[in-house]
Amino acid sequence: MTSAHTSRFPYPKGGDGTRRLGYGADYNPEQWPREVWAEDVRLMREAGVNTVSLAIFSWARLQPAEDTWDFGWLDEIMDLLHAGGIGVDLATATASPPPWLTTAHPEILPVTAAGETVWPGARQHWRPTSPVFREHALRLVTKLATRYADHPALVAWHINNELGCHNVYDFSDDAARAFRTWLRRRYTTLGTLNHAWGTAFWSQRYSDFDQILPPRLAGSHPNPTQQLDFKRFSSDALKDHLLAEREVLRELTPQTPVTTNFMVMGGTKGMDYADWAGEVDFVSNDHYVIPGPQDRDELSFSANLTSGIAGHRPWFLMEHSTSAVNWQPVNLAKAPGELARDSLLHVAHGADAVCYFQWRQSAAGAEKYHSAMVPHAGEDSELFRSVVNLGRTLEALAPIAGSAREPARVAVLFDWDSWWASEQDSHPTSLLSYHREALDWYSALLSLGIRADIVPAHGTGLSSYDVVIAPVLHVVPQTLAKELTRYVEGGGHLVTTYFSGTVDENDHVWLGGYPGALRDLLGIRIEEFGPLPEGETVTLDNATAGSLWTDRITVTGTDVEILARYEDGAQCARPAVTRRATDRGTAAYVSTRLGAEGLAVLLPELLAPAGVTSELPAGARGPVETAVRRDAENRYVFLVNRSDEPVALPDMAGEVLAGTYDGTVLPPREVAVLRQPTS
Ligand code: GLA
Ligand code: GLA
Repeated sequence: MTSAHTSRFPYPKGGDGTRRLGYGADYNPEQWPREVWAEDVRLMREAGVNTVSLAIFSWARLQPAEDTWDFGWLDEIMDLLHAGGIGVDLATATASPPPWLTTAHPEILPVTAAGETVWPGARQHWRPTSPVFREHALRLVTKLATRYADHPALVAWHINNELGCHNVYDFSDDAARAFRTWLRRRYTTLGTLNHAWGTAFWSQRYSDFDQILPPRLAGSHPNPTQQLDFKRFSSDALKDHLLAEREVLRELTPQTPVTTNFMVMGGTKGMDYADWAGEVDFVSNDHYVIPGPQDRDELSFSANLTSGIAGHRPWFLMEHSTSAVNWQPVNLAKAPGELARDSLLHVAHGADAVCYFQWRQSAAGAEKYHSAMVPHAGEDSELFRSVVNLGRTLEALAPIAGSAREPARVAVLFDWDSWWASEQDSHPTSLLSYHREALDWYSALLSLGIRADIVPAHGTGLSSYDVVIAPVLHVVPQTLAKELTRYVEGGGHLVTTYFSGTVDENDHVWLGGYPGALRDLLGIRIEEFGPLPEGETVTLDNATAGSLWTDRITVTGTDVEILARYEDGAQCARPAVTRRATDRGTAAYVSTRLGAEGLAVLLPELLAPAGVTSELPAGARGPVETAVRRDAENRYVFLVNRSDEPVALPDMAGEVLAGTYDGTVLPPREVAVLRQPTS
């Protein structure tokens, strides 16, 4: 791709000066005696490691007291890494404030909704809105940036660490003050705020901004718009911290790109990364597999969404695990082959660097049972040999560095506002999971062997997609309703679900019948929702079963087809799935939760008007996931065997860049990458 596309990405260079994929880990040398450091560099070289993230939790070591600084050890390790040819993504070290700071300034500690202090003892115990914390953090950033601006090992800045991992919601007085400032900016006047928050309800009308609080522990459901705005504010408060550190870095070291590690994974929902992504020079993500029936679908979903928020530019996988984590109820080791397959699935979705938490498994501390690149057993271990092998594979994949993900024909929209709003309290059901519904659609697509992009609902050019799936698109402002209507009128095929189009950006219901903002587009009208009790299902006449939700649908459009009806339950014989045809496009509605299996039954019918089908042979659909990257000369086709069995995969053209594929069979858990020249 063009140089502008990737110019800020810290590509390591090979001996011939060409780009390599990044490979490495968080490196925490302060946990080890000096003798181990030289050994670390030797083993890193053996594994092909070329990038490490350094000093993430080093604040107490770098600044042992308010006016005492100790950079000697960091100088030494930076020099050592540079001599070993290893680039450093240097942390600003602000993630975990040292004991002297929290002792002198307990007012930086976060406060829960119930008014409890979050004490030091773990990490990230700081209020995003504390001016005192901000001042101390920026002082440290200034010191580090000044000292290391010209160090030859420095390749990128790593702001803080997983902003919001433990401190996204703070209800302190600092937060209250900052929330009011944020609200003044959003609403300007109290009248506008009172309207937006619907404060006529329960006598909540404000006559002064100073009366407003975060949604602290209350006797019943706090105001829903206050809750939604507090979520938006909390994401913005962390982003504001990111920007404050970034400004110091940009001023002192403008030549060095800046990133911070996002957590696009599973249910991590506090940070609107679609909104943050434009603020960093390249997007970085952390991902951990949470074992379960859809675990590898979720990995693919998260990697895919990371690419979506990165505008399909290459992104940096800052952390994942070589094997077990330490924070699950039971921490499963990865099976043979999973280490490489998990990593390469991220690469398939646009990661141009593959890094782990962490380099050397800790002997002490809360993460001593978390896997690493060098395990407790040492270099003479299967795990380290797998790490070395992956390094070789990544070396072989050097030609793909800088290539972009090839867009799919199908998009699944993902929207933080809808996620936040649809799962709030005092709703028709408390069982709804926004993320699970989105993942179910993606799982169904994967099981049919159909490639899709997961993209943010706002700011994505929808018109390039033949099919747009918008699961539980709950918050639909007027502008989005218009965009979706234009999309369908322009020939697009929209699919949406229950509880979509229900409210505007203030969480006010669109009146006149559901799904409010999308009612005319879909050609249906719903007078009352029909959520189902936990465990109850209804049967549809297409041999699928619905759970969670049903709707009492009346068809209002003349051109609406009923794709499935309820066969039992309160909506018996009424429509369950509808599709309205416009001159050129279609708009379909699925009124119940079908789960991944049911959606796989329905999807071919939903995709048919767009002519979207699988590119894979029948037997490979499901066990094999494909993803494609491309540059000016080549397409790179990733074939990922998701199963533990060999899969017959004949006639896939191309030169095998990495992995084992003989033109007939893809071995169990294998990832093969084929290069196909485009000219
Ligand atoms: C997060 C953190 C790391 C480490 C890992 C463990 O990703 O950023 O410091 O705690 O979790 O999985
Ligand atoms: C109680 C209250 C009402 C309303 C209903 C809702 O009866 O008095 O104001 O909240 O509950 O069920």
